[in-house]
Amino acid sequence: MCGIVGIIGREQVAPLLVDALKQLEYRGYDSAGVATLQDGVLDRRRAEGKLVNLDKLLKENPLGGTIGLGHTRWATHGAPTVRNAHPHTTPRLAVIHNGIIENFAELRAMLEKDGYVFETETDTETVAHLVTRALDRGLDPVEAVRETLPQLRGAFAIAIMFKGEDDLLIAARNGPPLAVGYGDGEMYLGSDAIALAPFTDSLSYLEDGDWAVLTRSGVVIYDETGATVERPVQKSAGTAFLVSKGNHRHFMEKEIHEQPEVISHTLANYLDFSKGTIRTDAAPIDFAKIDRIAASACGTAYYAGLIGKYWFERIARLPVDIDVASEFRYREMPLSKDSLALFVSQSGETADTLASLRYCKQQGLTIGTIVNVRESTMARESNTVFPTLAGPEVGVASTKAFTCQLAVLASLAVAAGKMRGTINEDEERQLVRELSEIPRYANQALRLEPQIEAISRDLSQVKHVLYLGRGTSFPLALEGALKLKEISYIHAEGYAAGELKHGPIALIDESMPVIVIAPYDHWFEKTVSNMQEVAARGGKIILITDEKGAAASTLKTMHTIVLPDTPEIIAPIIYALPIQMLAYYTAVFMGTDVDQPRNLAKSVTVE
Ligand code: F6R
Repeated sequence: MCGIVGIIGREQVAPLLVDALKQLEYRGYDSAGVATLQDGVLDRRRAEGKLVNLDKLLKENPLGGTIGLGHTRWATHGAPTVRNAHPHTTPRLAVIHNGIIENFAELRAMLEKDGYVFETETDTETVAHLVTRALDRGLDPVEAVRETLPQLRGAFAIAIMFKGEDDLLIAARNGPPLAVGYGDGEMYLGSDAIALAPFTDSLSYLEDGDWAVLTRSGVVIYDETGATVERPVQKSAGTAFLVSKGNHRHFMEKEIHEQPEVISHTLANYLDFSKGTIRTDAAPIDFAKIDRIAASACGTAYYAGLIGKYWFERIARLPVDIDVASEFRYREMPLSKDSLALFVSQSGETADTLASLRYCKQQGLTIGTIVNVRESTMARESNTVFPTLAGPEVGVASTKAFTCQLAVLASLAVAAGKMRGTINEDEERQLVRELSEIPRYANQALRLEPQIEAISRDLSQVKHVLYLGRGTSFPLALEGALKLKEISYIHAEGYAAGELKHGPIALIDESMPVIVIAPYDHWFEKTVSNMQEVAARGGKIILITDEKGAAASTLKTMHTIVLPDTPEIIAPIIYALPIQMLAYYTAVFMGTDVDQPRNLAKSVTVE
């Protein structure tokens, strides 16, 4: 989940590397570093914490050179200190790494026995010394890397620059993504297209096991057998990736506000608004022939999948087994070849989700992935890609990707219902009409922002919060709790409202706000009964409901957030917005780093 970048260029590269790292900082921000080669001599600058610290350091103490490496770190092995920051160097080379070298302890012991002295606690330093040892034995850089790679176990994207080699970068991929960028007499390496967007839109993606030798005049790519291979050069969306906050204080705020628009783009991919049907090309999978869906994802994407389960089962009578990917991948569940394996991911790179996808592929299942980053590994390895058109999501806490995932899942559930004959044409048209209204309702939900900001001020004073919901509001309760804890650091739990009396009710007292998500749907009355149980024990209720729900509830609440009456299928998408705004404003009042909360990274490419 670190971000890596390499440039062999014509201009001074240090400022360019920092520009690229700015695009990659969403992958980790525990430390950052840059190394360059000037007149054959290696030098580096590294700083703890965010990239601004490195930027400052480079301004005070610049680095020259037209070839270099840059890294932004999400710490796995070793504390986030300057000493453990990448690039790691030996007298002969500098290396940057994203991922985990699983056998680093045994490699380190072997290298130490041979007299190599380690300066850090990182796994990456073993790569630096292994390649150095091969160079010390007289191999040239290419041969040294060729000899080293088979000794590494684990997941890695690495890039190496060699002392005295002003026209050479070597990179390798086994797991985390790595793109090669093509310029005019310049070549680039980056963890993703976003990193390279400031320089080029011509990219090729290394496959697992590939390694690449870059010079200013081009690249030679080898596969794991050592044979040279061609990887197609693709045009990425290039500068479209360059994102800014615009007039917003944070990316998260901007991304919350973008939702009506990006959901509308996403829906246009799946719905034929003029005919009022699902587009025939939107779901190139015969859901009538599928006996069940085996789904998995992580975090927010998992909660989207959980809501999708309710839709597929109710609308299409299609059973869905869904699990968090870190469990799914090791559970060895029996899978039928007639099942669809469905994955949900914003980045398309999350290590556990990718491993689950590969597991299902090995078992011979058809792979469908709902994914935001079209060039991602998951997109490339799937039989069918269901894109979300959320655009780049920079805030570490997922918002617009989540609601776009929901828009896709709802559309697919309707498509499946139609194919399986569980809904007729009129019902399809009705559901499509309802889905097409999401952007309008989402805009109305955004108008509640001032009220939600005021409520958040109260929320920022508390230590614990419970979220409750039933039906599709239950996964939303889980998502609400995740959003609040990850950006405000307030402890929060989400529960199925009916589970309250099986334990968590013991937590309720006057200091415990309980956020109840209760649209006026066919679960409403039952949820109200659960609210009564909370109120009877002095719990402070923040009710998120609609006009009908507000009129029907006679309970005294601390606050009631009233959304418009929405059709049932789209409620989880519309209710996601107040949930996100509550977390956002609470974090703003707490003064936390909203876009880059502590200990987190946007793309989790380690397990
Ligand atoms: C929370 C959040 C994470 C991600 C999870 C999966 O706000 O963003 O929980 O949802 O890390 O990431 P993707 O969707 O990239 O697979």
